[in-house]
Amino acid sequence: MSDAKLQSVISALTQVATQLNAMPTSQSAPDANCVKLNTNENPFPLPMMVMQSALAALERHYMYPEDDNLSLRTAAADAYGLSQDQVIAGNGSSELLGLIYRAFLSPGDSVAMMSPGFSFNRKLAMLQGARFLEVEWGESYSLPTEQLLLGPAKDAKFILLANPNNPTGTFVPVAEIDRLVDQSNRLIVVDEAYVDFAPDDALRLVDRHSNLMILRTFSKGYAAAGIRVGFGFGHPELIGRLRNLQNVFNMNLIGHAVGISILSHRADYDENHRYIKHERQRATTALSQFGFSVIPSHTNFLLARVPPGQDGKWWHASLDRRNILVAVFPDDGLENYIRISIGTKTQMDTFISAVRDISESL
Ligand SMILES: Cc1ncc(COP(=O)(O)O)c(C=O)c1O
Repeated sequence: MSDAKLQSVISALTQVATQLNAMPTSQSAPDANCVKLNTNENPFPLPMMVMQSALAALERHYMYPEDDNLSLRTAAADAYGLSQDQVIAGNGSSELLGLIYRAFLSPGDSVAMMSPGFSFNRKLAMLQGARFLEVEWGESYSLPTEQLLLGPAKDAKFILLANPNNPTGTFVPVAEIDRLVDQSNRLIVVDEAYVDFAPDDALRLVDRHSNLMILRTFSKGYAAAGIRVGFGFGHPELIGRLRNLQNVFNMNLIGHAVGISILSHRADYDENHRYIKHERQRATTALSQFGFSVIPSHTNFLLARVPPGQDGKWWHASLDRRNILVAVFPDDGLENYIRISIGTKTQMDTFISAVRDISESL
């Protein structure tokens, strides 16, 4: 296609597509041997029974998966004490987030997110041509309830917050969420991707409030990021509308089997969650000794302010040269931070000794 023709094709696209930049073309895949601490995976094997369910499901490879994810939704409803029509299932919670934005926002509408937050939401709002309002956390990362109820966010079609939050790792007491949902007449979406590492969860509020939706995933707490299993819980009138708009056969057979199996083997993960919290504490202590300032975390990652003199990008590059991947953020106010996922003891030892080497070489 000639460049003139390409320009004419692009300019005929939607406003969103016209303004977007294409993804960079020459990205290389990460080294398979790197210490990957940048996307908050849970690098542990699946319990044997869960693994076996995945292999058994593969034998039915020629069949379509069950439509509307019925068995998986029923299993989740049973496990969490809800009814099946209060549950939607998806390829990770990010698919469900996308569905919520598509179903509930028209161009020109506004949506509000607690900020800093999970930046994928910004892109989803942009895709809908919606205004994305970022509401800053209150002091010590508390929920600014009055501001959400009375400020510009009061006109948002929905308000989204992650609890615990990414990238800060902070946690808001469930009573504060209860108060916000109670006093708001808007939909509040609480993304509980990291809840398995937190002291409490808001699922019990679903039966009490028709304007609350909760998202969960098996990517972080259940070592199944590559299988893609997520859930949304809420009022049947809202969940039913989302299910109606969902792609047919959205999940696959293996996702169904693994999801159902994890739901009945959740207790097998207790040890894993204890291990991650222990490593989280060990890494927090070590980083503090090297001059980092670590925000107390309720997740499987840490957000750490780097010591004065360098910025997040510098640390990212220095660790990258040692084949260790951590996350950095372009957002204002986060330039001096790196986010480190909590991995195995061996991975964390490698990370801590790299930080020691880098600190000593300064
Ligand atoms: C806050 C939050 N929500 C949702 C997701 C999406 O997770 P998944 O699509 O794997 O379920 C992530 C992933 O990093 C996240 O950090």
